Amino acid sequence: MKKVLMVCLGNICRSPLAEGILQSKIKKDAVFVDSAGTAAYHIGNLPDKRSIEVAHKYGIDITRQRARKFTVKDFDTFDVIYALDESNYQNILILARNEEDTKKVKMILNETHPHKNLSVPDPYYDGQQGFENVFKMLGEACEIIASKL
Ligand code: 4NP
Repeated sequence: MKKVLMVCLGNICRSPLAEGILQSKIKKDAVFVDSAGTAAYHIGNLPDKRSIEVAHKYGIDITRQRARKFTVKDFDTFDVIYALDESNYQNILILARNEEDTKKVKMILNETHPHKNLSVPDPYYDGQQGFENVFKMLGEACEIIASKL
């Protein structure tokens, strides 16, 4: 089974949406999707209520998710690790042990904008519109990811 990990900073705003959206676009028994954060601030917490709200609006339930921190073991578990922004990307790569680990790490928006290394903006200090914007970007990226799985 192919395993895909979505990684942002807190694992409460962006990567829970990426996990839920990709999960909604694939057959559950064909791909394992998970998410994590590079920071420990929110370990054990539910996704941010604004992420829960925007996902719910589009028919996706992310309330079973709980935040966890990315660990070096994730390189062993997952086939592809999508960083949601440039700083997450750097913080994941710091932990890579070898070339094989490094090759698993990709910027998620390179799926929609190849080679541009664009970041999904951190919506934490924004209103609901910021979360709508993130949902739309991730919807487009996950559509492409799902089509390739
Ligand atoms: P996320 O958003 O990385 O998309 O989950 C954030 C969540 C929390 C914080 C920053 C970004 N924080 O500073 O606590």
